[in-house]
Amino acid sequence: METKKAKRIGVLTSGGDAPGMNAAIRAVVRSALHGGMQVMGVHHGYNGLINGDIVEMNVRSVSEILHRGGTILYTARCKEFRTHEGVLKAKENCEKFGIDGLVVIGGDGSFRGARDLSIEGIPCVGIPGTIDNDISCSDYCIGFDTALNTAVEAVDRLRDTSQSHDRCNVVEIMGHGAGHLALEVGIACGASAIWVNEIEFSPDKDIVDRIMTTGKTGKHHFIVIVGEGITDVHALAKYIEEKTGVESRATVLGHIQRGGTPTAKDRVMATQLGNYAVGLLEKGIGNRVVVIKEDHVEDFDILEALKMKKSINQKLYEVAKTINI
Ligand code: F6P
Repeated sequence: METKKAKRIGVLTSGGDAPGMNAAIRAVVRSALHGGMQVMGVHHGYNGLINGDIVEMNVRSVSEILHRGGTILYTARCKEFRTHEGVLKAKENCEKFGIDGLVVIGGDGSFRGARDLSIEGIPCVGIPGTIDNDISCSDYCIGFDTALNTAVEAVDRLRDTSQSHDRCNVVEIMGHGAGHLALEVGIACGASAIWVNEIEFSPDKDIVDRIMTTGKTGKHHFIVIVGEGITDVHALAKYIEEKTGVESRATVLGHIQRGGTPTAKDRVMATQLGNYAVGLLEKGIGNRVVVIKEDHVEDFDILEALKMKKSINQKLYEVAKTINI
């Protein structure tokens, strides 16, 4: 959608934070300034747009943040923005602060907000930033690689103690119903079982039987990865212990996965996506999501993006089943 070229853009982060969001903010601010635009930083996601918590940013506002986790703009999940009144208040503030284009860094909930604001006439460009990696139109979301490495490091530590005690360790991995992070953690950690929402799974067949079978080949410790929200991992550990006789423990990794220094991959991805997003607004193009497709940066219709569903890499799951024995 072609609109008039933006002169002053806003940038906000919304939803769950993800490592690399700061690198994206930095790229947006500096690319916009380079293109002769002004940049306004909106605090606390859409809340800041509704309440007018908006500050002008300059080249030094984003110094020393490239390597920092979290988001210097703060983030939130904003209930009021889900109402039409909330969207109209945000639109009024965009007009008041002279914001004629907005970059939204976040997940699909954040893009829904960007779509609603776009419909009201403020061109928005979304950048996928979520450790869940569940934005359907993009192969990659900022934060995924860092979260993956953080979780893998944590599970490696659990493996040490699991091995020492001949135990089974059940680990819950974040994902908000999506199994992309859990699956890759399971692959990278050689988990005996990976339970994700998208793939049919039976705890008796895929965990208990597997432990009994591989136990006969001399395996004495087991890692079981479970996607967030599927089951109570503490109850599952108890069940596994009862059925197999293997002492079992459960760990919920939780928000540990969302913090920390972004990996080089996340910094590079965020920088490219941030720069591309500004390029669109600079040309007067809004209502797009900036995506990674086969290692290229492209843009995609925001309305179409929200209709799509990302499928899990079933092949990778089958490979894990073959190899992690
Ligand atoms: O979307 C990122 C995510 O970390 C999900 O994996 C998780 O379900 C959710 O956010 C947790 O949200 P909150 O930080 O609001 O508890």
